[in-house]
Amino acid sequence: MKVLILGKGGREHALAWKFARSNRITGLYCAPGNPGTDELGTNVSIDANDVDAVVETAVRHEIELVFVGPEEPLALDVVSALADRGIAAIGPPASSARLESSKAFAKAFMQRHGVPTAAAKIVKSESDLRTFVSDNPGAVVVKMDGLAAGKGVREFDSATEALPFAETALKSGPVLLEERLHGIEVSAFALIDRNGHRILPPCADYKKSGERGTGSNTGGMGSISPVPWIDDETWDAVERTIIEPSIEGLRNDGLDYTGVLYIGVMLTENGPYTLEYNVRFGDPETQVILPLLRADILDVCEAMINGTISRCRIETDDLVSVGVVVASAGYPDSYRKNTPVTMDNVEGATVTPRSLDRLIFHSGTELNEHSHLVTVGGRCFTCVCRDTDVFRARTGAYELAESIHFDGAWCRSDIAARVFGS
Ligand code: AMP
Ligand code: GLY
Repeated sequence: MKVLILGKGGREHALAWKFARSNRITGLYCAPGNPGTDELGTNVSIDANDVDAVVETAVRHEIELVFVGPEEPLALDVVSALADRGIAAIGPPASSARLESSKAFAKAFMQRHGVPTAAAKIVKSESDLRTFVSDNPGAVVVKMDGLAAGKGVREFDSATEALPFAETALKSGPVLLEERLHGIEVSAFALIDRNGHRILPPCADYKKSGERGTGSNTGGMGSISPVPWIDDETWDAVERTIIEPSIEGLRNDGLDYTGVLYIGVMLTENGPYTLEYNVRFGDPETQVILPLLRADILDVCEAMINGTISRCRIETDDLVSVGVVVASAGYPDSYRKNTPVTMDNVEGATVTPRSLDRLIFHSGTELNEHSHLVTVGGRCFTCVCRDTDVFRARTGAYELAESIHFDGAWCRSDIAARVFGS
């Protein structure tokens, strides 16, 4: 089968790596991909958000399945455009992708279907904003309604402190003002088709730039799966009160969905609450989950397309997988680009993941005109190690991170450390 993956990050490198392990793959393309995906298949240099170019590429290469990595092409309805040409895709149409592309739509969906979530108000004008602030002085989270690549959400200790950010956010559209929750975050992933679903093991990412969850929100500075500090009873509650009612809600609202639903959850002392929906896999969660998945990803995708995912065996290795992101100087604010990269013990410029247990996935990297590897993004690599023991997995992931050198490279030092009481 010929497969096209849309996107260019670590998530897409991990997807390409997993697809490349299938012995039924007859062609693997990534658009636009990165130096890591180029070693596993063929990169096609188009913009994944250019729907016409994606369809044209898929037709030209006789692609049978498109896996959509990021949210933007989904919001632009690439899935319906491909369906019009008879090409199957993993990812929902734009009508369902609104669960991610509009926080207001997602909040109304949660409320309608009884999915626990923080109380929230949508404000559209400065005067509504000022009324909210005087009526609700407490801690608040401000969320821009539309897609903002992780930059549209900020938490504040009081509504007054939130005012400047909320005022700026209002200039680009409606803003959600939400009760601030406290607890432990977990990422839930469900594979959904028209008839059923399967839930993947719990995963956690580390959203903040600073140690112990301080600093600004990022795309994610590390990840772990399964999550050693989440017990079966807690996870059962997440499945029962959040994941299943959400999927039931899709069916009741007649929202088509073939793909991955990613639910951001806060485990509070009053039980699990939904923070957000994403209509795709997470990055860097994918980089730790896929190496644990025993199944051929092509079988899983075909099951989703055929509506038989609930009959698919989704077994994972009994190991823990830890991912550490290596980022550019300055990230998540403006960051340096075109910094040359070298890697220890590696011939040539790029690294193809070497074994199942120690993997380096490229994100914001490129080969420049001299074929030298340089950084071009904020998050440049995800270093993943799997082991039976979380301490060894964590140590292994950091060893890989230390084997990557570029000016200003940094990573959080406390990924997966929580289990040791920090
Ligand atoms: P979101 O894009 O809605 O998931 O928000 C990004 C991050 O902001 C989440 O992963 C949380 O760390 C934080 N966040 C979002 N909503 C809330 C909330 N209601 N209370 C506390 N933190 C939140
Ligand atoms: N890890 C967060 C995201 O993929 O949105």
